[in-house]
Amino acid sequence: MGLFISMEGPDGSGKTLQMDMLQKALIEAGYPVLRTREPGGPAISERIRALLLDPACKEMSPETEALLYAAARAQHVSQVIKPAMAEGKVVLCDRFVDSSLVYQGIGRGLGVSTIGEINHFATGGLQPDVTIVLQIDYAEGLRRKNVQYSGQLDRMEQQAGSFHQLVHDGFSQIVEWDPERVRMVDGSKAPEEVHTMIMEVLKPWLDRVLPQ
Ligand code: TYD
Repeated sequence: MGLFISMEGPDGSGKTLQMDMLQKALIEAGYPVLRTREPGGPAISERIRALLLDPACKEMSPETEALLYAAARAQHVSQVIKPAMAEGKVVLCDRFVDSSLVYQGIGRGLGVSTIGEINHFATGGLQPDVTIVLQIDYAEGLRRKNVQYSGQLDRMEQQAGSFHQLVHDGFSQIVEWDPERVRMVDGSKAPEEVHTMIMEVLKPWLDRVLPQ
């Protein structure tokens, strides 16, 4: 049956480093892991990603943006995530529907219920078994982003500070909507400490799919 884990958080929350550490720990423990990301995954979704993040696409309307994220996800679910789950894999996904609820529903102001509906259509109702939200202070996220910054900002990173502030606050809200599935972890601590907290949160789910 597999296990579906998603990792969420605002820009600069340390998500990528934590995905790396989690992937390594699970592989070492013997779990069959499939790591993937959104927007992206299969070739069709990666092409939609390129369009979404292209700074040249600055005329893109919020509705187009929301539908493209959902379209990339529909392909990702049918071509990659569902087959991996059917093979009993532990699927580690960097962002999923919660990112659309927060970035497009709250950040763009399209509404969480509208975004929920189009994504329900896109995924056939598939949800992660457990979602980690890495949260950090807004100012700390900005500081980390500036330190890491090299090269051109993508179309989403170029959005105004007010958009990113809405997104940051939105991630604190999603835990309240579905506290059984969504677990908040303090991303401001040292990476090793954050990793330990994530492993503790995931333990009950991982114990259900013990490595063969
Ligand atoms: P990502 O590759 O995770 O970027 P980062 O590593 O910088 O967090 O995601 C690309 C961008 O797309 C990011 O700014 C978040 C945004 N996004 C949405 O707006 N909606 C979505 O549904 C998803 C999956 C991502």
